[in-house]
Amino acid sequence: MSVLVTGGAGYIGSHVVDLLRQRGEDLVIVDDLVTGVVERINDLPLLQINLADTSATPKLEQFMRDHAVDSVIHFAGRKQVAESVAEPARYYRDNVGGMANLMLAMEAAAVDTMVFSSSAAVYGEPTTNPVKEDTATHPINPYGQTKLIGEQLLKDARAAGWLQAVGLRYFNVAGAATPLLSERHALNLIPMVIERVLAGRAPRVFGNDYPSRDGTCIRDFVHVIDLAEAHLVALDQLRSGQPASDVYNVGTGRGASVLEVIDAIGKAAGRDLVPEIAPRRDGDPVAVVADVSRIEAELGWKSRLEVTDMVESAWDSWLATH
Ligand SMILES: NC(=O)c1ccc[n+]([C@@H]2O[C@H](COP(=O)([O-])OP(=O)(O)OC[C@H]3O[C@@H](n4cnc5c(N)ncnc54)[C@H](O)[C@@H]3O)[C@@H](O)[C@H]2O)c1
Repeated sequence: MSVLVTGGAGYIGSHVVDLLRQRGEDLVIVDDLVTGVVERINDLPLLQINLADTSATPKLEQFMRDHAVDSVIHFAGRKQVAESVAEPARYYRDNVGGMANLMLAMEAAAVDTMVFSSSAAVYGEPTTNPVKEDTATHPINPYGQTKLIGEQLLKDARAAGWLQAVGLRYFNVAGAATPLLSERHALNLIPMVIERVLAGRAPRVFGNDYPSRDGTCIRDFVHVIDLAEAHLVALDQLRSGQPASDVYNVGTGRGASVLEVIDAIGKAAGRDLVPEIAPRRDGDPVAVVADVSRIEAELGWKSRLEVTDMVESAWDSWLATH
């Protein structure tokens, strides 16, 4: 029996691939390598297709049968919010259409288990904090909508009786186990600050007059190694037939402010960073922190690593890969 990892050549997927390999699982990968890095999966069997291609379903079904797949961890998805706003149809086609194709193939090949990469983007701009799984979902961009629709697809397939699945709602993911597995693109706070610092520019802070402990926004940063472990725990829960909820928040339950993160990057870099204060951006809630009591109670998972671990590994990896 083997596990199919879609998006296994990507940043988070490759961390999970590493952990699954370490415990001796048989693995196969589906990835179109648009943002994935093939060296991360080296000798593993790879089906290189866009999940959303019209011909994808029969190819996926055959691949699952050929490799005796019994479960799927589904990471493959486009994830750039700004791109999703500019090109919504492509995001719906790739993220929603791709997932539907994958699920059609699973049903045809009698593969009944899935762990899905969802996102805190499903909450949009939550007005309560910490954010619980039953906090209202109001995505504010097409990317977040595609994740919410993905969760709905899982719910409907569960109701139809053939699927057992959970969606993991990641908060702010950061850090790396090794430079090869690290995030290569400066889309989030930590890589964006690192990129500016290395370019000799001051890190930028959008608003320092929020009602928080130091006036800057508070976010929940989770180390990608901890996040990867959450996937194994979720997969094991489903495989063992134990009850599982539809969705789980994956974060630390603790918030770090933008200034605290910049301070930690300064320490990792051995530099005294003086941020440049820019006006607030529209739609940035003051604090978004996960309530992680559900995943702790039901799956026994808890984050272990801290912001300093994320920042140090992100800094070292960025230097090694750029
Ligand atoms: N990185 C984050 O902060 C974050 C936060 C919340 C949710 N997520 C979700 O986690 C998943 C993995 O994110 P990541 O950070 O590893 O991104 P990534 O871009 O590094 O990895 C995605 C992988 O999937 C592949 N892929 C994308 N769309 C595909 C398609 N239609 N068909 C085949 N392959 C495809 C890419 O080539 C890449 O290897 C995504 O679904 C993303 O939306 C990420």
